[in-house]
Amino acid sequence: MTNQTASSTPDAQAIEVTGAYKVFGRRPKEAVKRLRAGASRDDIKQLGTAAVIDTSFSVQPGEIFVVMGLSGSGKSTLIRMLNGLGETTDGSIRVFGDEIVGMGAADLRALRRDRLSMVFQHFALLPHRTVRDNAAYGLEIQGVPAAERRERANHWLERVGLKGWEDHLPGELSGGMQQRVGLARAFAADTDILLMDEAFSALDPLIRREMQEQLVELQQELGKTIVFITHDLNEAMFLGDRIAVMRDGRIVQVGTPNDILTDPANDYVAQFVQDVDRARVLTAGDVMEPPRAVVPASAGPRAALRLMRDLQTSACFVTTSGRKLLGVVRDKDMLREVRKGGTDLAALVRPTPSVVDRDQYIADLFELAVESPLPVAVVDNQGRLIGVVPRVTLLASLTNVPAVTTEIPIIEPTPDVPMAVITETLEQTHPGRVPEGAAAESPSPEAMITNEGAQA
Ligand SMILES: Nc1ncnc2c1ncn2[C@@H]1O[C@H](COP(=O)(O)OP(=O)(O)OP(=O)(O)O)[C@@H](O)[C@H]1O
Ligand SMILES: [Mg+2]
Repeated sequence: MTNQTASSTPDAQAIEVTGAYKVFGRRPKEAVKRLRAGASRDDIKQLGTAAVIDTSFSVQPGEIFVVMGLSGSGKSTLIRMLNGLGETTDGSIRVFGDEIVGMGAADLRALRRDRLSMVFQHFALLPHRTVRDNAAYGLEIQGVPAAERRERANHWLERVGLKGWEDHLPGELSGGMQQRVGLARAFAADTDILLMDEAFSALDPLIRREMQEQLVELQQELGKTIVFITHDLNEAMFLGDRIAVMRDGRIVQVGTPNDILTDPANDYVAQFVQDVDRARVLTAGDVMEPPRAVVPASAGPRAALRLMRDLQTSACFVTTSGRKLLGVVRDKDMLREVRKGGTDLAALVRPTPSVVDRDQYIADLFELAVESPLPVAVVDNQGRLIGVVPRVTLLASLTNVPAVTTEIPIIEPTPDVPMAVITETLEQTHPGRVPEGAAAESPSPEAMITNEGAQA
């Protein structure tokens, strides 16, 4: 039920901002000229307040694009330029290919009605209309018949948790509830683009988290393009496909949450991200490393045992030749098998203690890591081992220190069987010395492992 205007370019970006400026004050055009020539924000103070300076970015259809920055950095000004509510002093803003800078008032109203809904920082509800009529407001301007309006408003009010409040007035609701009416109004209007200015900031933490999850769910379900402004870095990281960080009217970095977190463009961004809950931003795929303790099932117990000795670990992963993860083997089982001259590794494979997919947040990995003698295994959707997350990596990823530290042997579980015992056993059972039949020695573990990197 999305609305399309005839003039739109079919494969255009949802929003494309190029060299946009907004100066409030007496002589905005002159101010832009001076800014272009290299003047600072302070230099042009006499001419006006430069709220948005030389800003360029684009938002793809179906993307959640987050804008963050300190108070006064220009976020609200910028988002209001995107739907023409605030005039753009200079530059270009295209919505699905249509230039909106300089567009007439009637066209802008149509644009807001049909293409972009906005959830305001301060709820902007109509005080004398019921909650339902507020939620149905966008539909009313779209000319949707009364019965359908009512039904769609009810539907969205229920989805934001306001069932039963339809006939109340906004003044009877708490701030958080009013914010949810604004949200229902925006969703009910069913436009392609949603502009959300601090839309969740009046909500208490539990409901806020719930709304964030619901927004992501709705976005996936309906494919909306969302521009979301927030002060809250964890919210930005949770919601954003990409995040733009604003400072003093300029965008100082645009990137994925992972880019912003691991490669901040400057100290301002770095300071911004230092408090982020990394465990809820980074995923197993972000921090995983190539698996080392891994043998193909065909390699046999000797190879597995030697590998475990060399890596000083008590277990290793076993895969098929196609790298599908079969499970793990333990050093003590392999030792016993080698001692009795056995060659069957497959029979001794145990289930992998902890397996995740690459999208799992590392917050969920800690418990798994503690329970396992091996790093947490990361598999792709076909069950192939694509990486591992050792405990030390898990800890390092939270603090941004390099993963390679001298503490690895302390943090990683030590072998169950002493190294000397394994070496002795390997020597005593060397193929030259063991009875025939038990000596089906496989290629050296090194040879088998070198091609077992993380690349899928
Ligand atoms: N109507 C206006 N007239 C004059 N100056 C304005 C106007 N609106 C915003 N400003 C100025 O523009 C700058 C950016 O304000 P804006 O509201 O966009 O910031 P913000 O990033 O949304 O801040 P917050 O996080 O507090 O909402 C500020 O210096 C502000 O004083
Ligand atoms: Mg604001």
